[in-house]
Amino acid sequence: MKVKEILDKAYSEHHLTKDEIKFLLNSEGEEKELLFAYADRVRKEYVGDDVYLRGLIEFSSYCKNDCFYCGLRRSNREAQRYRMQEDEIVEVAKRAYDMGYRTVVLQSGEDPYYTKDKVCSIIKKIKKEVDVAITLSIGERSYEEYKAFREAGADRYLMRFETSNRELYQKYHPGMSFENRIECLRWIKSLGYELGTGFLIGLPGQTIDDLANDILLVYELDSDMIGIGPFIPHPHTPLKDTEAGSVDLTLKCISILRLLMPDSNIPATTALGTLDPLGRQKGLKCGANIVMPNVNDLKYKLKYELYPGKICINEDATKCRGCIESIIISLGRKVGQGFGQSRHYELKK
Ligand code: 5AD
Ligand code: FES
Repeated sequence: MKVKEILDKAYSEHHLTKDEIKFLLNSEGEEKELLFAYADRVRKEYVGDDVYLRGLIEFSSYCKNDCFYCGLRRSNREAQRYRMQEDEIVEVAKRAYDMGYRTVVLQSGEDPYYTKDKVCSIIKKIKKEVDVAITLSIGERSYEEYKAFREAGADRYLMRFETSNRELYQKYHPGMSFENRIECLRWIKSLGYELGTGFLIGLPGQTIDDLANDILLVYELDSDMIGIGPFIPHPHTPLKDTEAGSVDLTLKCISILRLLMPDSNIPATTALGTLDPLGRQKGLKCGANIVMPNVNDLKYKLKYELYPGKICINEDATKCRGCIESIIISLGRKVGQGFGQSRHYELKK
Protein backbone atom coordinates (compact mmCIF):
# COMPACT_ATOMS: atom_id res chain seq x y z
CA MET A 1 0.00 0.00 0.00
CA LYS A 2 1.37 3.41 -0.93
CA VAL A 3 0.21 6.72 0.45
CA LYS A 4 0.02 8.25 -3.04
CA GLU A 5 -2.30 5.47 -4.24
CA ILE A 6 -4.56 5.87 -1.23
CA LEU A 7 -4.67 9.62 -1.68
CA ASP A 8 -5.56 9.31 -5.37
CA LYS A 9 -8.38 6.96 -4.45
CA ALA A 10 -9.60 9.32 -1.73
CA TYR A 11 -9.41 12.23 -4.16
CA SER A 12 -11.60 10.57 -6.77
CA GLU A 13 -13.93 8.47 -4.59
CA HIS A 14 -14.16 10.29 -1.24
CA HIS A 15 -14.15 6.94 0.41
CA LEU A 16 -11.50 4.92 2.26
CA THR A 17 -11.40 1.64 4.14
CA LYS A 18 -10.46 1.57 7.78
CA ASP A 19 -7.04 0.12 6.95
CA GLU A 20 -6.37 2.88 4.46
CA ILE A 21 -7.34 5.50 7.05
CA LYS A 22 -4.98 3.89 9.57
CA PHE A 23 -2.22 3.88 7.00
CA LEU A 24 -2.69 7.62 6.46
CA LEU A 25 -2.82 8.26 10.21
CA ASN A 26 0.59 6.58 10.49
CA SER A 27 2.18 8.51 7.62
CA GLU A 28 5.28 10.55 8.36
CA GLY A 29 7.70 12.86 6.55
CA GLU A 30 7.08 13.40 2.84
CA GLU A 31 4.05 11.14 2.83
CA LYS A 32 2.41 13.12 5.60
CA GLU A 33 3.15 16.35 3.71
CA LEU A 34 1.53 14.82 0.64
CA LEU A 35 -1.59 14.05 2.70
CA PHE A 36 -1.76 17.69 3.83
CA ALA A 37 -1.23 18.92 0.25
CA TYR A 38 -4.08 16.73 -1.10
CA ALA A 39 -6.40 17.93 1.65
CA ASP A 40 -5.52 21.56 0.92
CA ARG A 41 -6.26 21.02 -2.76
CA VAL A 42 -9.62 19.38 -2.05
CA ARG A 43 -10.50 22.22 0.34
CA LYS A 44 -9.73 24.77 -2.37
CA GLU A 45 -11.70 22.93 -5.03
CA TYR A 46 -14.80 22.24 -2.94
CA VAL A 47 -15.16 25.09 -0.45
CA GLY A 48 -12.77 27.66 -1.92
CA ASP A 49 -10.55 30.24 -0.25
CA ASP A 50 -13.21 31.76 1.99
CA VAL A 51 -12.67 31.24 5.69
CA TYR A 52 -15.88 31.76 7.64
CA LEU A 53 -15.81 33.21 11.13
CA ARG A 54 -18.25 32.21 13.86
CA GLY A 55 -18.74 34.36 16.92
CA LEU A 56 -18.62 32.07 19.95
CA ILE A 57 -20.72 33.08 22.96
CA GLU A 58 -20.03 30.88 25.98
CA PHE A 59 -23.06 31.84 28.04
CA SER A 60 -22.86 29.48 31.05
CA SER A 61 -19.98 27.68 32.71
CA TYR A 62 -22.27 25.50 34.84
CA CYS A 63 -22.41 21.84 33.90
CA LYS A 64 -24.35 18.94 35.36
CA ASN A 65 -21.98 16.38 33.81
CA ASP A 66 -18.66 15.15 35.04
CA CYS A 67 -16.57 14.41 31.94
CA PHE A 68 -13.10 13.36 33.05
CA TYR A 69 -11.26 15.70 30.68
CA CYS A 70 -13.31 18.88 31.00
CA GLY A 71 -12.53 21.79 33.31
CA LEU A 72 -16.24 22.63 33.58
CA ARG A 73 -17.05 19.22 35.12
CA ARG A 74 -19.33 19.48 38.13
CA SER A 75 -16.76 17.95 40.51
CA ASN A 76 -14.29 20.75 39.78
CA ARG A 77 -14.89 22.92 42.85
CA GLU A 78 -12.23 25.38 41.69
CA ALA A 79 -14.07 26.24 38.50
CA GLN A 80 -15.53 29.72 38.41
CA ARG A 81 -19.16 29.58 37.44
CA TYR A 82 -21.27 32.21 35.72
CA ARG A 83 -24.54 32.44 33.88
CA MET A 84 -25.34 35.18 31.42
CA GLN A 85 -28.89 36.48 31.43
CA GLU A 86 -31.06 36.54 28.36
CA ASP A 87 -30.67 40.23 27.56
CA GLU A 88 -26.94 40.06 27.98
CA ILE A 89 -26.66 37.16 25.55
CA VAL A 90 -28.75 39.06 23.01
CA GLU A 91 -26.53 42.14 23.48
CA VAL A 92 -23.38 40.11 22.80
CA ALA A 93 -25.01 38.61 19.70
CA LYS A 94 -25.76 42.14 18.48
CA ARG A 95 -22.19 43.19 19.14
CA ALA A 96 -20.96 40.16 17.19
CA TYR A 97 -23.19 41.21 14.29
CA ASP A 98 -21.78 44.74 14.41
CA MET A 99 -18.28 43.29 14.25
CA GLY A 100 -19.24 41.49 11.04
CA TYR A 101 -20.14 38.01 12.30
CA ARG A 102 -23.04 36.35 10.50
CA THR A 103 -23.12 33.24 12.70
CA VAL A 104 -23.22 33.11 16.46
CA VAL A 105 -22.53 29.91 18.36
CA LEU A 106 -24.34 29.71 21.70
CA GLN A 107 -22.35 27.33 23.85
CA SER A 108 -22.55 26.28 27.50
CA GLY A 109 -21.99 23.41 29.86
CA GLU A 110 -25.05 21.19 30.22
CA ASP A 111 -27.01 23.63 32.32
CA PRO A 112 -30.69 22.83 33.01
CA TYR A 113 -31.18 26.39 34.28
CA TYR A 114 -31.72 27.23 30.61
CA THR A 115 -35.06 25.53 30.17
CA LYS A 116 -36.67 24.86 26.82
CA ASP A 117 -38.61 28.11 27.06
CA LYS A 118 -35.59 30.18 28.05
CA VAL A 119 -33.48 28.85 25.16
CA CYS A 120 -36.34 29.40 22.69
CA SER A 121 -36.80 32.93 23.93
CA ILE A 122 -33.08 33.71 23.51
CA ILE A 123 -33.11 32.32 19.95
CA LYS A 124 -36.20 34.31 19.00
CA LYS A 125 -34.88 37.55 20.46
CA ILE A 126 -31.55 37.26 18.64
CA LYS A 127 -33.31 36.45 15.37
CA LYS A 128 -35.58 39.46 15.81
CA GLU A 129 -32.68 41.82 16.45
CA VAL A 130 -30.07 40.66 13.95
CA ASP A 131 -29.79 38.61 10.77
CA VAL A 132 -27.47 35.85 11.92
CA ALA A 133 -27.40 32.08 11.70
CA ILE A 134 -27.63 30.52 15.15
CA THR A 135 -25.66 27.46 16.15
CA LEU A 136 -26.49 25.79 19.45
CA SER A 137 -23.89 23.84 21.41
CA ILE A 138 -25.58 23.02 24.71
CA GLY A 139 -25.33 19.25 24.85
CA GLU A 140 -27.87 16.49 25.25
CA ARG A 141 -31.56 17.39 25.40
CA SER A 142 -34.85 15.66 24.65
CA TYR A 143 -36.29 15.33 21.14
CA GLU A 144 -39.01 17.80 22.08
CA GLU A 145 -36.47 20.38 23.13
CA TYR A 146 -34.40 20.01 19.95
CA LYS A 147 -37.63 20.35 17.97
CA ALA A 148 -38.69 23.47 19.87
CA PHE A 149 -35.25 25.11 19.42
CA ARG A 150 -35.39 24.41 15.70
CA GLU A 151 -38.89 25.87 15.44
CA ALA A 152 -37.74 28.91 17.39
CA GLY A 153 -35.14 29.53 14.67
CA ALA A 154 -31.95 27.64 15.53
CA ASP A 155 -30.14 26.69 12.32
CA ARG A 156 -27.30 24.45 13.41
CA TYR A 157 -26.26 22.21 16.28
CA LEU A 158 -22.79 21.20 17.43
CA MET A 159 -22.19 18.23 19.66
CA ARG A 160 -19.12 16.04 19.48
CA PHE A 161 -19.47 12.32 20.24
CA GLU A 162 -15.95 12.75 21.74
CA THR A 163 -14.88 9.13 21.12
CA SER A 164 -16.44 6.22 19.25
CA ASN A 165 -14.79 3.71 21.60
CA ARG A 166 -17.71 2.77 23.85
CA GLU A 167 -15.49 1.56 26.65
CA LEU A 168 -13.53 4.81 26.71
CA TYR A 169 -16.74 6.78 26.36
CA GLN A 170 -18.30 5.15 29.41
CA LYS A 171 -15.08 5.52 31.40
CA TYR A 172 -14.69 9.24 30.75
CA HIS A 173 -18.40 10.20 30.86
CA PRO A 174 -19.80 8.89 34.15
CA GLY A 175 -23.57 8.71 34.16
CA MET A 176 -23.83 9.28 30.41
CA SER A 177 -24.40 6.84 27.56
CA PHE A 178 -22.82 6.63 24.13
CA GLU A 179 -26.08 5.30 22.68
CA ASN A 180 -28.00 8.30 23.93
CA ARG A 181 -25.46 10.69 22.48
CA ILE A 182 -25.68 9.08 19.03
CA GLU A 183 -29.47 9.06 19.25
CA CYS A 184 -29.41 12.81 20.01
CA LEU A 185 -27.19 13.39 16.96
CA ARG A 186 -29.62 11.45 14.76
CA TRP A 187 -32.60 13.44 16.10
CA ILE A 188 -30.75 16.69 15.42
CA LYS A 189 -30.08 15.60 11.85
CA SER A 190 -33.68 14.47 11.33
CA LEU A 191 -34.99 17.84 12.49
CA GLY A 192 -33.18 19.56 9.63
CA TYR A 193 -30.41 21.24 11.59
CA GLU A 194 -26.99 21.56 10.03
CA LEU A 195 -25.27 18.95 12.13
CA GLY A 196 -21.81 19.28 13.58
CA THR A 197 -19.99 16.52 15.38
CA GLY A 198 -16.49 15.26 16.00
CA PHE A 199 -14.09 13.90 18.57
CA LEU A 200 -11.10 14.49 20.81
CA ILE A 201 -7.63 13.44 19.70
CA GLY A 202 -5.25 11.97 22.25
CA LEU A 203 -7.55 10.93 25.08
CA PRO A 204 -5.52 8.64 27.34
CA GLY A 205 -6.00 5.05 26.16
CA GLN A 206 -7.17 6.02 22.68
CA THR A 207 -5.50 4.15 19.80
CA ILE A 208 -4.99 4.75 16.07
CA ASP A 209 -7.66 2.11 15.51
CA ASP A 210 -10.07 4.20 17.62
CA LEU A 211 -9.26 7.33 15.62
CA ALA A 212 -9.94 5.51 12.35
CA ASN A 213 -13.33 4.48 13.81
CA ASP A 214 -13.95 8.08 14.93
CA ILE A 215 -13.32 9.31 11.38
CA LEU A 216 -15.66 6.65 9.98
CA LEU A 217 -18.37 7.58 12.49
CA VAL A 218 -18.25 11.26 11.45
CA TYR A 219 -18.66 9.99 7.87
CA GLU A 220 -21.53 7.71 8.79
CA LEU A 221 -23.35 10.47 10.68
CA ASP A 222 -23.00 12.56 7.51
CA SER A 223 -21.84 15.56 9.45
CA ASP A 224 -22.19 18.99 7.83
CA MET A 225 -19.60 20.47 10.19
CA ILE A 226 -16.71 18.60 11.77
CA GLY A 227 -15.23 19.71 15.10
CA ILE A 228 -12.10 17.91 16.17
CA GLY A 229 -9.28 18.99 18.42
CA PRO A 230 -6.47 17.71 20.62
CA PHE A 231 -7.14 16.78 24.23
CA ILE A 232 -5.38 19.14 26.68
CA PRO A 233 -5.09 17.97 30.32
CA HIS A 234 -6.75 20.26 32.83
CA PRO A 235 -5.10 20.49 36.29
CA HIS A 236 -8.40 20.17 38.17
CA THR A 237 -9.60 16.99 36.52
CA PRO A 238 -8.80 13.28 36.97
CA LEU A 239 -6.75 13.37 33.74
CA LYS A 240 -4.43 16.10 35.03
CA ASP A 241 -1.26 13.98 34.90
CA THR A 242 -1.77 12.61 31.41
CA GLU A 243 -0.23 13.75 28.13
CA ALA A 244 -1.87 16.14 25.70
CA GLY A 245 -2.97 14.99 22.26
CA SER A 246 -0.67 15.43 19.29
CA VAL A 247 -0.94 18.42 16.96
CA ASP A 248 0.36 16.36 14.07
CA LEU A 249 -2.19 13.61 14.57
CA THR A 250 -4.93 16.25 14.75
CA LEU A 251 -3.75 17.70 11.43
CA LYS A 252 -3.79 14.23 9.88
CA CYS A 253 -7.37 13.69 11.10
CA ILE A 254 -8.43 17.06 9.64
CA SER A 255 -6.81 16.17 6.30
CA ILE A 256 -8.40 12.74 6.07
CA LEU A 257 -11.82 14.13 6.95
CA ARG A 258 -11.47 16.82 4.28
CA LEU A 259 -10.72 14.09 1.71
CA LEU A 260 -13.72 12.03 2.81
CA MET A 261 -16.14 14.92 3.27
CA PRO A 262 -14.96 17.50 0.74
CA ASP A 263 -17.84 19.96 1.13
CA SER A 264 -18.33 19.94 4.91
CA ASN A 265 -17.22 22.82 7.13
CA ILE A 266 -14.17 22.09 9.26
CA PRO A 267 -12.89 24.55 11.87
CA ALA A 268 -9.28 25.06 12.86
CA THR A 269 -10.02 24.81 16.58
CA THR A 270 -8.85 26.93 19.48
CA ALA A 271 -7.39 23.83 21.17
CA LEU A 272 -5.15 23.32 18.15
CA GLY A 273 -4.02 26.95 18.42
CA THR A 274 -3.43 26.47 22.14
CA LEU A 275 -1.04 23.54 21.76
CA ASP A 276 0.87 25.14 18.89
CA PRO A 277 1.15 28.89 18.31
CA LEU A 278 0.74 28.20 14.59
CA GLY A 279 -1.86 25.47 15.10
CA ARG A 280 -4.78 27.30 13.53
CA GLN A 281 -2.70 28.32 10.52
CA LYS A 282 -1.58 24.71 10.08
CA GLY A 283 -5.20 23.52 10.32
CA LEU A 284 -6.30 26.04 7.69
CA LYS A 285 -3.54 24.78 5.40
CA CYS A 286 -4.58 21.12 5.53
CA GLY A 287 -8.34 21.21 5.07
CA ALA A 288 -9.95 23.56 7.59
CA ASN A 289 -12.11 26.50 6.42
CA ILE A 290 -13.68 27.88 9.63
CA VAL A 291 -12.44 29.74 12.73
CA MET A 292 -14.54 30.39 15.84
CA PRO A 293 -13.27 33.41 17.77
CA ASN A 294 -14.78 34.12 21.17
CA VAL A 295 -16.87 37.29 21.26
CA ASN A 296 -17.56 37.38 25.01
CA ASP A 297 -16.32 39.90 27.54
CA LEU A 298 -12.94 39.17 29.14
CA LYS A 299 -14.60 38.65 32.52
CA TYR A 300 -16.40 35.59 31.15
CA LYS A 301 -13.69 34.31 28.83
CA LEU A 302 -11.38 33.63 31.76
CA LYS A 303 -14.01 31.59 33.53
CA TYR A 304 -14.90 29.23 30.71
CA GLU A 305 -11.93 26.98 31.12
CA LEU A 306 -12.45 23.67 29.32
CA TYR A 307 -8.67 23.27 29.30
CA PRO A 308 -5.79 25.48 30.49
CA GLY A 309 -3.76 27.98 28.47
CA LYS A 310 -6.51 28.87 25.98
CA ILE A 311 -5.31 31.42 23.45
CA CYS A 312 -6.89 34.88 23.02
CA ILE A 313 -8.10 34.79 26.62
CA ASN A 314 -6.78 38.29 27.35
CA GLU A 315 -7.80 39.84 24.05
CA ASP A 316 -10.98 41.77 23.66
CA ALA A 317 -13.33 40.61 20.94
CA THR A 318 -12.49 43.37 18.44
CA LYS A 319 -8.79 42.68 18.72
CA CYS A 320 -9.36 38.94 18.25
CA ARG A 321 -11.30 39.59 15.10
CA GLY A 322 -8.55 41.79 13.66
CA CYS A 323 -5.92 39.25 14.58
CA ILE A 324 -7.74 36.38 12.96
CA GLU A 325 -8.44 38.38 9.80
CA SER A 326 -4.74 39.11 9.39
CA ILE A 327 -3.92 35.43 9.83
CA ILE A 328 -6.42 34.53 7.10
CA ILE A 329 -5.02 37.16 4.74
CA SER A 330 -1.44 36.11 5.42
CA LEU A 331 -2.38 32.63 4.21
CA GLY A 332 -3.63 34.07 0.91
CA ARG A 333 -7.24 33.39 1.89
CA LYS A 334 -10.17 35.71 2.56
CA VAL A 335 -12.84 36.19 5.18
CA GLY A 336 -16.10 34.67 3.94
CA GLN A 337 -19.13 36.97 3.72
CA GLY A 338 -22.66 35.83 4.51
CA PHE A 339 -23.82 32.91 6.64
CA GLY A 340 -21.30 30.40 5.36
CA GLN A 341 -23.75 27.53 5.37
CA SER A 342 -22.16 24.12 4.95
CA ARG A 343 -22.10 23.24 1.22
CA HIS A 344 -22.63 19.65 2.28
CA TYR A 345 -25.97 20.68 3.79
CA GLU A 346 -26.88 23.07 0.98
CA LEU A 347 -26.37 20.50 -1.77
CA LYS A 348 -28.56 17.89 -0.09
CA LYS A 349 -31.56 20.12 0.31
N1 5AD B 1 -9.11 19.47 26.04
C1 5AD B 1 -9.54 19.68 24.78
N2 5AD B 1 -10.83 19.81 24.45
C2 5AD B 1 -11.74 19.72 25.43
N3 5AD B 1 -13.08 19.79 25.42
C3 5AD B 1 -13.53 19.65 26.68
N4 5AD B 1 -12.50 19.49 27.52
C4 5AD B 1 -11.36 19.52 26.78
C5 5AD B 1 -9.98 19.39 27.05
N5 5AD B 1 -9.54 19.18 28.29
C6 5AD B 1 -13.86 19.87 24.18
C7 5AD B 1 -14.88 18.73 24.09
C8 5AD B 1 -16.20 19.46 23.93
C9 5AD B 1 -15.79 20.81 23.42
C10 5AD B 1 -16.76 21.90 23.66
O1 5AD B 1 -14.58 21.07 24.13
O2 5AD B 1 -14.61 17.95 22.94
O3 5AD B 1 -17.10 18.82 23.05
FE1 FES C 1 -19.61 19.48 30.84
FE2 FES C 1 -17.81 17.98 30.05
S1 FES C 1 -18.25 18.45 32.07
S2 FES C 1 -19.32 18.87 28.87
